[in-house]
Amino acid sequence: MVNIQNVTDDIRWIGASDRRISRFENLFPLSNGVSYNSYIVMDNQIVLFDTCDAAVADQYFENLNFALSGKKPDYLVILHMEPDHCSQIGRLLSLYPDIILVGSVQTFKFLHQFFPELDDVQRIVVKEGEVLQTNNHTFKFIAAPMVHWPEVLMVYDEHSKLLFSADAFGTFGALSGSIFADEYDFAKDLLDESRRYYANIVGKFGPQVQAVLKKTEALDIKGICPLHGPVWRKDINVFIEKYKNWSSYTPESDEILLIYGSMYGHTASAAEKAAALLKEKSEKNVVVYDVSKTDSSFLIGEAFRCGKIVLFAPTYNGGLYLPMHALIHDFEALNLQNRIFALAQNGTWAPMSGKIMQEMLSHLKNCTVLPEMLTITSALDADRESDVESFIEQIVDA
Ligand SMILES: Cc1cc2nc3c(=O)[nH]c(=O)nc-3n(C[C@H](O)[C@H](O)[C@H](O)COP(=O)(O)O)c2cc1C
Ligand SMILES: [Fe+2]
Ligand SMILES: [Fe+2]
Repeated sequence: MVNIQNVTDDIRWIGASDRRISRFENLFPLSNGVSYNSYIVMDNQIVLFDTCDAAVADQYFENLNFALSGKKPDYLVILHMEPDHCSQIGRLLSLYPDIILVGSVQTFKFLHQFFPELDDVQRIVVKEGEVLQTNNHTFKFIAAPMVHWPEVLMVYDEHSKLLFSADAFGTFGALSGSIFADEYDFAKDLLDESRRYYANIVGKFGPQVQAVLKKTEALDIKGICPLHGPVWRKDINVFIEKYKNWSSYTPESDEILLIYGSMYGHTASAAEKAAALLKEKSEKNVVVYDVSKTDSSFLIGEAFRCGKIVLFAPTYNGGLYLPMHALIHDFEALNLQNRIFALAQNGTWAPMSGKIMQEMLSHLKNCTVLPEMLTITSALDADRESDVESFIEQIVDA
């Protein structure tokens, strides 16, 4: 069934949601799918912004065919060559062989790598600042290298004042009826999944996101059309401010994040006690997670949100409990910065986990590891309460 929605009078969303997908990039768990957004501009010349993922291709072509109502598309602008958006370029060209592909030098390098059979198709190679003019619309190209791949382009339409932002400003989750963010409750329905998407997909590339935010600052942006999640047409600055926060690795909240690993529950028990004392002494919200239970993509989202992070982990075969090791490795891989850490270790015969966490965290930029480490030798006894209290106090005071 055709499912097209109007973004403006002549710009239509022709994308689709995939609710069956269990992991984005076969990596990040999705509880309610993801949308692959594509847009068509029905000017004198017809412009498409991206195709879609293979999973929703039939819906995309049904939408496209209906939107065209017998006409042919003139241009496919390729904002991003990742297969969740470019997988259908071959099928599109088999239906509309006269379509002209528009992209950067690197777009066409990647096109050749993915689709060597398309070497002869018509193309326009564009650079930062160049425009594609249809009748009413003037589409201006903005290079957005590494947001999220090197070839990424954003497009600003001077007519509608919409920014086609590629993967930036995306959100995990299928669309539920409306394509517009303002028809959802942002704080309740979108923010956490926008942040988890940002932190895990583009979190590593904060400086590159900052660079592109700087370029778009001069533009009069009335709406943002990303490749995933809802379209933004109201309160855009609220979302842009979040991007400024996240891309500068500035904590968004003064809540305290406590993550523990535990095999038999003793480290967990100590962590729960520490959380209770932290809550009492700091009067801040404390959010507690078990590193083995909660997928690291959620913990990464939380680490991008909270300024203070407390880690409790057992020693395991002379090393660090593996899920905690993986999480801290993720912190480093995603360039997490500007955080305060406090560490607690457990070990029955030779506690090592704290030292290893400390060493790993020393690779993170602008992070402080508080000096007082809490050491548990198997289980935390009631007579250690004062040790826990001083461990907590340094976190509250930091
Ligand atoms: C498979 C395994 C390997 C461990 N390796 C070490 C070790 O190398 N050094 C150490 O001091 N304790 C080691 N421990 C003990 C734990 O670090 C920890 O003290 C104990 O499991 C209590 O924590 P928990 O109840 O939170 O799991 C090991 C425990 C297990 C189950
Ligand atoms: Fe991407
Ligand atoms: Fe994408």
